[in-house]
Amino acid sequence: MQVATTARNRKEKEEKNKRKNRKQLGFATRAIHAGQKPDPATGAIALPIYQTTTYAQSAVGVNKGYTYSRTGNPTVAALEENLAELEGGAGAACFATGMAAITAAFGLLNSGDHAIVSTVVYGGTPRLCNNILSRYGLKFSYIDTSDPDAVRRAMKENTKIIFIETPANPTLKLSDIRALAEIKGDAKLIVDNTFLTPAFQLPLELGADVVVHSTTKYIEGHNTTVGGALIPKDPKLLEDYKYFQNAVGTILSPFNAWLTIRGLKTLDLRMRKHSENAQKIAEHLESHPKVSKVLYPGLPSFPQAELAKKQHRGHGGMLAFELKGGVKAGLKFAKSLSLITLAENLGAIETMVTHPATMTHAAMSKEAREQAGITDGLIRLSVGLEDVNDLIEDLDEAIRLAL
Ligand SMILES: Cc1ncc(COP(=O)(O)O)c(C=O)c1O
Repeated sequence: MQVATTARNRKEKEEKNKRKNRKQLGFATRAIHAGQKPDPATGAIALPIYQTTTYAQSAVGVNKGYTYSRTGNPTVAALEENLAELEGGAGAACFATGMAAITAAFGLLNSGDHAIVSTVVYGGTPRLCNNILSRYGLKFSYIDTSDPDAVRRAMKENTKIIFIETPANPTLKLSDIRALAEIKGDAKLIVDNTFLTPAFQLPLELGADVVVHSTTKYIEGHNTTVGGALIPKDPKLLEDYKYFQNAVGTILSPFNAWLTIRGLKTLDLRMRKHSENAQKIAEHLESHPKVSKVLYPGLPSFPQAELAKKQHRGHGGMLAFELKGGVKAGLKFAKSLSLITLAENLGAIETMVTHPATMTHAAMSKEAREQAGITDGLIRLSVGLEDVNDLIEDLDEAIRLAL
């Protein structure tokens, strides 16, 4: 027993050192290599898709670390190692969808516990909280988390989670992670980092406890999967998330993990190009006579431009704008695009446009949307990797047809 413990300790130490050394490598290098080594059986440089339900055991309880693919799978584990490395977490748990990850984040609470959630978040999050989790006795307050004082005032003795999305979907409103970390007390600060990814924002370094991803978006990046991840700083919390995931049965599939790993390898390049294109489009729209408002954290006119500079290493590919003709013009505009696709997703190589009030945020009440600044005329643009001049031409033509 003693021998086994010492060997385990040595292995853990080696792993830790390996992780420490990796930290010194650049982001793009780690995105390509962390958790990835040539297959020991064949030398295949691309990790195999371990498409298996179960794993042979040489005797009862003797296995190679895997027993059943609801509990763990080597392809999923490789993705988890990579994401943990990039975000600087103790590990990661990868889920079937982003919503499954968010369910697990709240799923560790007990009846009667309270959570603070940003007023501006992806519409599926308040839908989950209000229509599902509230049935189990969890209490939620929707607070403008861009104002740390408002959060401080909303904290209660039973507040266990502060859940923020920054930049938030779809208005790009920011919350100051460092400021919230200072006032969170014993509550866990959970940050949905879907919009910027670890390429541009590291919430754990800024004092958050857990990072959430819809890997469906930039992490996988090619409009081919749905997936999610939780990356906590505390190894005990990781264990609890994995326990929850196994009990509820919401792990990511090996094939989707494999596609996500492939996407991650180009995350650095993609995020830079998404940002470059989005910056050019934001500037173009801002100078367009038929556009009344543009929200993009890289514009000097963005209300929280200073915080964006402090908190981000790049501003990503998401922007929102309003046409002078309001809702009617907005809907006509969305219909008139020819290259850009009207779709629910974001964060992929193809440029996509969304009308949040009737699509991604339709599950929120009109009142909640208004409170969050999601006006009926707001258009969300997920800027892809096409030639930016082609995108600008398509936008201009659709605006001309709409107004
Ligand atoms: C910021 C954000 N978080 C979470 C989710 C939910 O992720 P999924 O659709 O993968 O369940 C979304 C989906 O659009 C999102 O935009």
